[in-house]
Amino acid sequence: MTELLLAKLPEGSVLAIDGSRAMVEAARRRFAGEPRVRVERQDLLSLEVEERVDLIFSTATFHWIWDHDRLFENLARALKPGGRLVAQCGGEGNISRATRATKETMKEERFSDYFVCWHDDKYYADAGTTAKRLEAAGFEEVQTWLHDEIAAFDSVDKLARFVGTIVLGGHLKELPEEEQLPFAARVAEKVAGVDGRPALDYVRLNMMARRSA
Ligand SMILES: C[S@@+](CC[C@H](N)C(=O)[O-])C[C@H]1O[C@@H](n2cnc3c(N)ncnc32)[C@H](O)[C@@H]1O
Repeated sequence: MTELLLAKLPEGSVLAIDGSRAMVEAARRRFAGEPRVRVERQDLLSLEVEERVDLIFSTATFHWIWDHDRLFENLARALKPGGRLVAQCGGEGNISRATRATKETMKEERFSDYFVCWHDDKYYADAGTTAKRLEAAGFEEVQTWLHDEIAAFDSVDKLARFVGTIVLGGHLKELPEEEQLPFAARVAEKVAGVDGRPALDYVRLNMMARRSA
């Protein structure tokens, strides 16, 4: 994302922020020697920028954050008056088939002992609530909308590999190594079992807004 933004900004610079040490280290390696990129490790819930920015762009991140009121207040504070926010994350109903299949699989006798203390860590907000929150945080010209993005796979095996890597990371950490692939395979089987299609029903929440002057 940072690389794509940079290509669109021949005279600008990018402040790239992520809360993960590994992500920040990877980005720093990638942009070593590039004076137009600064990479910082920060939690967006306590975001501080030295100099306010013209644009905030974010993908696939806000659904990891439960407190959107505080998140949007922080983003508004980091933007210059009139600055823009353009963001996309998982929205209401995102991967609902996989979520249902995962909950059912967690309850199966083979796996249930590993999830006694499990709590869900994602928040898929809806468009109306998000618009109100953005306005309350000091944004105007607010536009928010959901769109469906179906990801289809050639086989249940490929779906299992994908959910194991991308969707079920947190769940697999709770399991012993030998149960990780069987768990992902079971979830994929159930997802495909709904209508015979190995597919994930992604729903993305889009938001565009301008920081009030
Ligand atoms: C799916 S990745 C998306 C990364 C990147 N935006 C992209 O599109 O390739 C989600 C990222 O959100 C980061 N993240 C989650 N919660 C965060 C928080 N509170 N503050 C900062 N980063 C956070 C994670 O570390 C992770 O790198």
